[in-house]
Amino acid sequence: MSGSAKKLHVITWGCQMNVYDSGRMADVLAPLGYAPTAAPDDADMVILNTCHIRERAEEKVFSELGRLRLVQQARAAAGRRTILAVAGCVAQAEGEEVLARAPYVDIVLGPQTYHRLPEMVARASRAAGAVIETDFPAEDKFDHLPANDGKHGITAFLTIQEGCDKFCAFCVVPYTRGAEVSRPARAVLAEARTLIAAGVREITLLGQNVNAWHGQAPDGGTWSFAQLLRALAALPGLLRIRYTTSHPRDVRDDLIEAHRDEPKLMPFLHLPVQSGSDRVLAAMNRRHTAADYRATVDRLRAGRPDLALSSDFIVGHPGETDADFRATLDLVRDIGFAQAFSFKYSPRPGTPAASAPKQVPGPVKDARLQELLALLRQLQAEFNRRTEGLVLPVLLTGPGRKPGQLAGRSPYLQPVHLPGPIALIGTETQVRIVRAHPNSLTGTLQQEKLTA
Ligand code: 5AD
Ligand code: SF4
Repeated sequence: MSGSAKKLHVITWGCQMNVYDSGRMADVLAPLGYAPTAAPDDADMVILNTCHIRERAEEKVFSELGRLRLVQQARAAAGRRTILAVAGCVAQAEGEEVLARAPYVDIVLGPQTYHRLPEMVARASRAAGAVIETDFPAEDKFDHLPANDGKHGITAFLTIQEGCDKFCAFCVVPYTRGAEVSRPARAVLAEARTLIAAGVREITLLGQNVNAWHGQAPDGGTWSFAQLLRALAALPGLLRIRYTTSHPRDVRDDLIEAHRDEPKLMPFLHLPVQSGSDRVLAAMNRRHTAADYRATVDRLRAGRPDLALSSDFIVGHPGETDADFRATLDLVRDIGFAQAFSFKYSPRPGTPAASAPKQVPGPVKDARLQELLALLRQLQAEFNRRTEGLVLPVLLTGPGRKPGQLAGRSPYLQPVHLPGPIALIGTETQVRIVRAHPNSLTGTLQQEKLTA
């Protein structure tokens, strides 16, 4: 959505501090496509940056807002929206009164929250509907996806959710992909049936924030994500269900119960934590602590003791100290991740973290990334090694690289190679794991076939 020509008009009252802040607000909005304009009636967004020290400061704010309201109305009559924001000291001191007396104001923000302005603008745009270009209505949005055309193997992806409302400080997705939208259950179930009829046996549900799914039930009511999972699990012919990517805050009780009760739900969960430090998690606007994450994992494992976890990590988020990074390593050891993706923090224009102070120097990020990767590699190798000697259900997905070999995947998404007949492709079969390699397993068939 960046690059679209939108206009920003900033009215600045008061001290040099306010002049500086107005510049900063214009800076953080520039990556969202806002360019300055001197004419309020040309502006898609007007910020009134106020000062409390002026005589009768409040009355002056309300009379200026009254004028801006007329501009807002005139533009609305021409089909153009104007986001109105009040910033500065009056907003800080009298925010509630501003909203009560001038309900047409979209955003009230105090000087401590300027870095969250892009988030607030995105939210205000969404509240009005369809101002952000990428906010399609739910069905249109999913219509843009490539159609599932029946050419599938044994495993397939199915998109059930798009967009994100979480606004993690480092992440551009809420701005570029727009608001969180859930696809109606009827459409999801219909596509799943089509996939199953085409031979698919394992479906991975996709969404930027997949476990935040809450959508229209077939009877017109609303289902939670867990209810959707249970309905999918009831479809005959489907053997396995996975989903990605999840947010820890959306792991609700009924989802934990579904993992306990529903054998088709694979015991392998990609649940990004990003950091093990509460300070960094707060700066990231993740809205959970490391202890919350540990507690969620404990509860999941209480119902499903064989549950393995995967995560995303960011090293070198602005403000991350060495002690914060150590806290991440501690969390990694405690949880014992089976797999993970690690990233060096990289600024995304328009996100709060990009303009945050205390950016971490590149060489520090590099060193932390290497240390984290080494630990994660070690844990992954240990996890794989623990499967040696076990008998695991393996979904056989196709022929292997060598003649007479089959390829498949374990419940933990590990690739498995074994000798066997091609007639078994598409079945879930008991396999004795003989050797663990860094990124795959080899095994032999146990004679018993589980399912057809
Ligand atoms: N810098 C580094 N990593 C990022 N991610 C998202 N935004 C950034 C960024 N600005 C990572 C997060 C997320 C994954 C998909 O990408 O870890 O979970
Ligand atoms: Fe949303 Fe994930 Fe980005 Fe956070 S990291 S804003 S949850 S897409």
